[in-house]
Amino acid sequence: MIDVCVVGIGEYVTGLSGDSAAKSDKSLGVIALSLFEMRDRGLIGEIKLAGRDSKRFELIKEYFDTNMKSFYPSLDVSFEGFPKSGKSDVAYKEAIDSLKTGSAVLIFTPDDTHFEIASYALECGMHTLVAKPLVKTLKEHENLAILAKQKELLLMLEVHKRFDPIYADAKDTIQNFGDFSYFNSYMSQPKTQLDTFASWAGISSDISYYLNSHHVDFLCWSVGDFAKPISVLATASSGVASKKLGRDVEDTITLTVSWENKSGAIGTSIHTASWIAPPSDVHSQQRFFYMGHEGEINIDQAHRGYTQSTDSSGFKSSNPLFMKYTPRDGKFAGQESYGYKSIATFIRSSMKLGEDTTKLSQYNKTLPTIQNTLNVTKILEAGRISLDEKRSVELK
Ligand SMILES: NC(=O)c1ccc[n+]([C@@H]2O[C@H](COP(=O)([O-])OP(=O)(O)OC[C@H]3O[C@@H](n4cnc5c(N)ncnc54)[C@H](O)[C@@H]3O)[C@@H](O)[C@H]2O)c1
Repeated sequence: MIDVCVVGIGEYVTGLSGDSAAKSDKSLGVIALSLFEMRDRGLIGEIKLAGRDSKRFELIKEYFDTNMKSFYPSLDVSFEGFPKSGKSDVAYKEAIDSLKTGSAVLIFTPDDTHFEIASYALECGMHTLVAKPLVKTLKEHENLAILAKQKELLLMLEVHKRFDPIYADAKDTIQNFGDFSYFNSYMSQPKTQLDTFASWAGISSDISYYLNSHHVDFLCWSVGDFAKPISVLATASSGVASKKLGRDVEDTITLTVSWENKSGAIGTSIHTASWIAPPSDVHSQQRFFYMGHEGEINIDQAHRGYTQSTDSSGFKSSNPLFMKYTPRDGKFAGQESYGYKSIATFIRSSMKLGEDTTKLSQYNKTLPTIQNTLNVTKILEAGRISLDEKRSVELK
């Protein structure tokens, strides 16, 4: 059994966006629900949630009690909230301080806060999971890698696409396609999400960090044994987000990355992310095309050949492979979905490290940890530099 603290009480953790249910495909959230379920099965002890405003917990408790309980009546949805009263930007420190060394900290806060909070969690001796993008700069990535190594702790990046059975099969299949030649990914959010992201969009992060991070990680994972990124050129479209938010914000960012195979052959990847998509049959478009010298793959992760239509919500393409919310006999039945599995893998791995620290080197090979995701941060940071300085960025 392991105790956990989640830092961040926004959409991905609670399912609440602003003061109401997220209008995304995650209205019950992913993190808190997964942890409550693991506590029900005896894997987790205490659950602490750290935000910045104690008043917010009244709303969250009411939301869990009405919405989560209406799906899973017997689920224990209790937690301890920090700050206990008033407001504090560093309530996460109090929450982490109250944990035993070797507990688990999960960080789901805006991108630019990940480094500071993860550093604190590691300093305090906690295994740590950080939402993508792990951090924003190579320097931060390297500093955290050193700290995690010194402290012998697991620092894992939350990239749930790796746990999608179809993406995982594609990664394995790509190993048989010879050199890497070409990759093209697209991912989007509807423009209504710009209201959810209004406090940070175009200020402390961008849509490439937020969404391209997924497929940049997938490609780095897939070709990491035989190709490396050598340069990044980023371009952007604008016009919608700037008008909506009243400041300069890119609508759509495209990263063009050059790769060099060990054989010397050159490959190209193109990663496009947008947050101005119109309403559609899915919340988020997500797809890619991969071409190796000896084979190619197409995956449309948003369309799994499963559609539903109701009087209340109209026509939708469903993807319960990500999060299966529909209960079975009044209980959560999504243990096989990849949103859940990503969290469960981190929790189980952290627990095992409590019994056997030598497993850490194995995790640093097989899981998306700070030790093997440097190229992801390199590419995302180079994309930002390329946009700001209007030039191609060489990767050393
Ligand atoms: N929403 C998704 O679908 C999704 C999916 C995967 C990963 N993520 C990642 O999760 C992170 C959070 O996303 P979200 O959609 O939940 O955002 P959100 O804006 O809904 O929530 C962010 C939360 O962080 C809190 N926060 C900010 N600074 C803090 C601090 N110093 N201490 C404690 N809490 C602080 C805010 O109060 C808010 O509760 C991002 O890094 C994002 O990339 C989101």
